[in-house]
Amino acid sequence: MSDSETGRRPAAERPLEDSSSTDACTEATGAEAAGGRTSSTAKRDVPSDQGAEVRTRRSFAVQAVTAILSVLLVIIPLIPCLGFFLTPLLRRKGAEAGSGRRDAEGFVRLDIDPTALPEDGSPVMVTVFDDEIDAWNKFPDQPVGTVWLRKTEDGRVLALSTICPHLGCMVDFRPGRRDFFCPCHTSAFDLNGQRLNQIPPRNMDELEVKVADGVLWVRYRTFRAGTPEKIPV
Ligand code: FES
Repeated sequence: MSDSETGRRPAAERPLEDSSSTDACTEATGAEAAGGRTSSTAKRDVPSDQGAEVRTRRSFAVQAVTAILSVLLVIIPLIPCLGFFLTPLLRRKGAEAGSGRRDAEGFVRLDIDPTALPEDGSPVMVTVFDDEIDAWNKFPDQPVGTVWLRKTEDGRVLALSTICPHLGCMVDFRPGRRDFFCPCHTSAFDLNGQRLNQIPPRNMDELEVKVADGVLWVRYRTFRAGTPEKIPV
């Protein structure tokens, strides 16, 4: 249809602003479209960034768990090894603090009632039991030696080592002569352990004893044989 038929003015007579308006609308429409695309792209970018962040966190968590498990796999097998090497130190510390038969002062408990010693002063041989401890093992109540015990005239308990100070044989008691005698080289001692001949280089070795709460304790030790001096070994 012609412009006259539509009632519209001819295009040549239309104000210029109409076309500019149309152009503006076109530009606005284009801008809106562009804006719409930008908005759409931004909306698509946000989930993409969140996904990358989630993947990063997940990767970090996996690496952390892997590192922890690796450390545990190294440490766990070492625990028995550490116990193996530390046990001697811990046991030695316990022994020094007083465990088993030995007290903190180094006295060993004897299995004899001190009031049961003969009143006439005759000696009684008593076996000494102690805990034997080496680097990694502990053997409780092992026989480690013997001592002669007797009640003296003043009522105290005398403890003498049964090891001859001459060359280390065992000293015996002769009830008939009421003395101590070593059969190896005939060393002889009186009931207090004093030499009766010049064969042994020194008297019998006296050991420290104590009575606590009715229990008899001895500081058991051995000494070097063949020397005039009493040298602990
Ligand atoms: S070892 Fe006892 S007298 Fe020689």
